[in-house]
Amino acid sequence: MARAAALPPSRSSPTLPLLPLLLLLLQETGAQDARVRMPPEVRGRLGDTVELPCHLLTQGPEGNVSQVTWQRLDPPKESQSVAAFHPSHGLSFPSPQFGKERLSFLAMGQSTGPKWGRGIEMRDATLVLRGLTVEDEGNYSCEFATFPQGTSRGVTWLRATAQPQNHAETQEVILSQELVPVARCVSTGGRPPAQISWFSPLDGKAQESQVPGPQPGTVTVTSRYTLVPSSQADGVKITCKVEHETFEQPDLLPVTLSVRYPPEVSISGYDDNWYLGRSEATLSCDVRSNPEPTGYEWSTTLGVLPASAIAQGPQLIIHSVDRLVNTTFICTVTNAVGTGRAEQVVLVRGAQKLWNQTATRSPPGGCNLTCLLGPGK
Ligand SMILES: *[C@@H]1O[C@H](CO)[C@@H](O)[C@H](O)[C@H]1NC(C)=O
Repeated sequence: MARAAALPPSRSSPTLPLLPLLLLLLQETGAQDARVRMPPEVRGRLGDTVELPCHLLTQGPEGNVSQVTWQRLDPPKESQSVAAFHPSHGLSFPSPQFGKERLSFLAMGQSTGPKWGRGIEMRDATLVLRGLTVEDEGNYSCEFATFPQGTSRGVTWLRATAQPQNHAETQEVILSQELVPVARCVSTGGRPPAQISWFSPLDGKAQESQVPGPQPGTVTVTSRYTLVPSSQADGVKITCKVEHETFEQPDLLPVTLSVRYPPEVSISGYDDNWYLGRSEATLSCDVRSNPEPTGYEWSTTLGVLPASAIAQGPQLIIHSVDRLVNTTFICTVTNAVGTGRAEQVVLVRGAQKLWNQTATRSPPGGCNLTCLLGPGK
């Protein structure tokens, strides 16, 4: 079988650039009759025209080839003659699967008429097959009947391939405890089926399924990237990689994950140095959420806000700190998915805390008035 001389798997696609390599390889391995030069494998795209090269190498007097025959070797029909040329009987394409419409000899040309005949060398028996189908895939032998050397033949494995179309997309999900698909990568109509993998910083798993593709003999592969969706996964970029022998390089398709989750809230701005009479104290409600918040609400554990505190969206501005500010503030944030809240205990001191008196740590927040008045004064 020609398959025995199989090539190492190759990513490069087109048949033609491969041929010189194949021929070299064939000559090296001597897997077939040394007098007939044929590639062990020929690949063609479904629907395309492929050439099945076959050459007789022997030097000899002209006209010593008495017949050329191409046969299909695979089941269901044991050996099926698909094309023949005889110097006096002419051309024959006996197989109904191919007929005259889909087959021709390259050396004969399309319109110029036979170049072969008595006295003309019949050494190039390259067969041209149009409209490649899945059913055409198989082993084909090319045979020269010569006088007086006898019969020489070689075998080629014809493979039909189809280039798949790829796309990847995010599947928007809501925060949950369950494993769900968060992205999908689809390679449509490949032959053989494409190979899909994922690059991701997250600990997800791929789940793959295959269905018949749009063209007969092709396969559509779908890979779903699944994980337990957390808010940390929102906005993360992952990449689907599709590999196929018809691609010169893998197809890389990036997607950005989208996990919808209720607001995750924290409060900043309290520096543990709020004292009676301090001006311009501000609390900020810091939020991560998907989608964006629709509303912020400030309150205290006692209910309503003290008169000195003014809510402005995510900020709470206290123009002058008084005893009523000595409480716990709550910021409640809402988005389309739900609600989140955070609390901040505020301790109002009778007087400003000076850093060189406590001498333990620097202020936690950014630089403010206290810094300027700080150590050394
Ligand atoms: C604020 O409340 C605490 C008790 O929670 C109290 O010790 C402190 O004196 C109060 N501050 C003022 C300025 O009243």
